[in-house]
Amino acid sequence: MSKKILLSGVKPTGRPHIGNYFGAMKQFVDMQEDYNCMFFLADYHALNFIQDGKELSQSIIDLATDYLAIGLDPQKSVIYKQSDIPEHTELAWIFDTITTCAYLERSHAYKDAQAKGKEVSVGTFNYPMLMAADILMYDADVVPVGQDQKQHVEYARDTAEKFNRIFKSEVFKLPEAKILEEVAIVPGIDGRKMSKSYGNTIPLFATREEITKAVMSIVTDSFIKNISDGKAVIDQEVVYKINDERQHRPQNLYAIHRLFKNEKELNSFYDNKLGNYKEIKESLIEDVDAFIKPLRDKREHLASDTDFVLDTLKEGGKRAKQKAEHKPGAVDQSQVQVCH
Ligand code: TRP
Repeated sequence: MSKKILLSGVKPTGRPHIGNYFGAMKQFVDMQEDYNCMFFLADYHALNFIQDGKELSQSIIDLATDYLAIGLDPQKSVIYKQSDIPEHTELAWIFDTITTCAYLERSHAYKDAQAKGKEVSVGTFNYPMLMAADILMYDADVVPVGQDQKQHVEYARDTAEKFNRIFKSEVFKLPEAKILEEVAIVPGIDGRKMSKSYGNTIPLFATREEITKAVMSIVTDSFIKNISDGKAVIDQEVVYKINDERQHRPQNLYAIHRLFKNEKELNSFYDNKLGNYKEIKESLIEDVDAFIKPLRDKREHLASDTDFVLDTLKEGGKRAKQKAEHKPGAVDQSQVQVCH
């Protein structure tokens, strides 16, 4: 049986951290074995956020370098840049013509932007239709996304269904969202979810110095407000909930540590080092660095060869384009042939 088609788009978000890695990026790398994967850099979408050409090009190069460094493999997957296939926007337009404003007004992302009192661009309003085009163009079966993007995949599915119904055709396949399990809600150095906006991250390609600084500032258990009757009262924002049996552990140090070392070894280590935060942190620095170093080295190597990164994207773009080209044609045949 041939493998299913898996497709996902990534927007440039700045420097990735280990929370991004364990929460999504690594899962993409692993999925390459089980699916025919297509991964693209969503630069058309990014135009809603970045309006400086130089900044956008640099963000795209950075993002491609990050993903190649962690193991997205152009031999296994089609890796490309959205804007190399302008057919995405053509298809998005066609979808606009069968979509109502009332339907798009229900989008969470749109409502959030409005609630913040922002001036919402038409690009933001239309975001789900471009995303539907990204997905439906390639007959994707599976779309791995975080929970926040689930509604967008539903938009794509509804749009495929609606098009097929109106034009009495089977042009579009209905995609399924594959919600990325939070294998690890990675706590940040302050115990809240690791997030750039909290400034509590350990960067994925951190230098040894950055790792040391971040680990040394991991709060140990100061977020536990009170322990009474064997029950811990913890700050609500703390993501790693205390486990009754092991209350004596520095919980979020441990939660970060277990991403890098197997729990069996860690259990005895933490029991032996009870209360000795300094030694625990020193060992965490070694473990994080042992993990990050090969990624950091590979990234450095790729970053010194931007041409290779750009060529890889260009080649991926050619492969994607071959796959994309038949779709607008099929759409024309179903519609009244207004386009050509
Ligand atoms: N909207 C996605 C995000 O913000 C990025 C994206 C664009 C995407 N097009 C897509 C994801 C198609 C999956 C499929 O993360």
